[in-house]
Amino acid sequence: MKAQLEPFHAIAISKQAHALKAEGRSIIHMEFGQPSTGAPKTAIAKAHAVLDAEAMGYWESAPLKERLAQFYQERYGVRVDASQFILTCGASPALVLALSSTFSPGDRIAMARPGYVAYRNTLKALHMEPVEIACGAEVGFQLTAAALAAVEPAPQGVIIASPANPTGTLIKADELQAIVTVCRQRGIRIISDEIYHGLSYVEPAQTILAYEPQAQVVSSFSKYFSMAGWRLGWLLAPPEHVERAQAYCGNLFLTAPSLSQHAGLAAFDALDELDGHLQVYRENRRLLLAALPELGLTTVAPPDGAFYIYASIAHLTDDSLAFCQRLLQDTGIASAPGIDFDPVDGKYFIRFSFAVSTAEIEEAIRRMKPWFAAQPRKV
Ligand SMILES: Cc1ncc(COP(=O)(O)O)c(C=O)c1O
Repeated sequence: MKAQLEPFHAIAISKQAHALKAEGRSIIHMEFGQPSTGAPKTAIAKAHAVLDAEAMGYWESAPLKERLAQFYQERYGVRVDASQFILTCGASPALVLALSSTFSPGDRIAMARPGYVAYRNTLKALHMEPVEIACGAEVGFQLTAAALAAVEPAPQGVIIASPANPTGTLIKADELQAIVTVCRQRGIRIISDEIYHGLSYVEPAQTILAYEPQAQVVSSFSKYFSMAGWRLGWLLAPPEHVERAQAYCGNLFLTAPSLSQHAGLAAFDALDELDGHLQVYRENRRLLLAALPELGLTTVAPPDGAFYIYASIAHLTDDSLAFCQRLLQDTGIASAPGIDFDPVDGKYFIRFSFAVSTAEIEEAIRRMKPWFAAQPRKV
């Protein structure tokens, strides 16, 4: 049977936002999780330089894999070998590789609900079964060891994300350790989506490999490195799984773009510039969190990382898509409806991305205050 996949509703909101912009309206784009900053200067300079000098054939950059291995040592104190990296066109294909090379059709894979929409849909496309575990504000919308232990029968795999999309929340170190213990006891294989690493406001996120060397990590240059459109990411697999995953990569995707691999390596020379973006997000987060009570949005889990606020609008609506459309129409603020992340309770939630400028955040708050105050409460 063909898998039926839901579209990203935030794309429809974004299209509507661009149409309004074309009519001359002032729009603040808070619907997508992508930095507005562009690639670091070193990456752009490198791309210009190699464009005239290289043939850009199929290529896997050995220096980039070496640099990634060094990065894991520097950032996490974790030793991995360069040969464990498979370079991909972003975390999305890395997730397809990890899932398809590890699990079989029909396998059950657990994840938090709310969660990144593509987990559910990628699993469906691969004829695997998403096992969504309801995780409320009281657990920071995050998976817990207890919740995973309670899934019967034990799933074959679990996808964890810390910090997560749409909430930005982290799984604390002791909980992560407990999750690993449950997974070992129950034979559950772990895929850790670490795409928001580098973007933390409370404590740095630790890689799952510090707890479980057998886990697989997917990540990319799309968020911290501010290079979403360059389509570059990686799968970091345990040594004994690399050959198999590499064979899947060769057949399904071949290689990542050569130009982006050159630029990605150069991005490592701009870590100060990238950490500067984090300071902007930190201020945006502070401003938004301070303003939320005035908007009447009190059910939130403050984001430990990433650049999202996921807030309940249950007192105002049970149709988050229509709500986001109205917010956009009336104020020019584009946001993402909760239904993109949670097919059950998402109708009561809205996600704002604060990966924009601080001036835009200030303006968004200024527009939203009177708008939210004027919204009738549900009866
Ligand atoms: C949690 C999460 N994982 C993976 C991705 C895919 O990222 P990319 O394919 O650009 O690396 C995204 C994109 O927003 C995301 O939020």
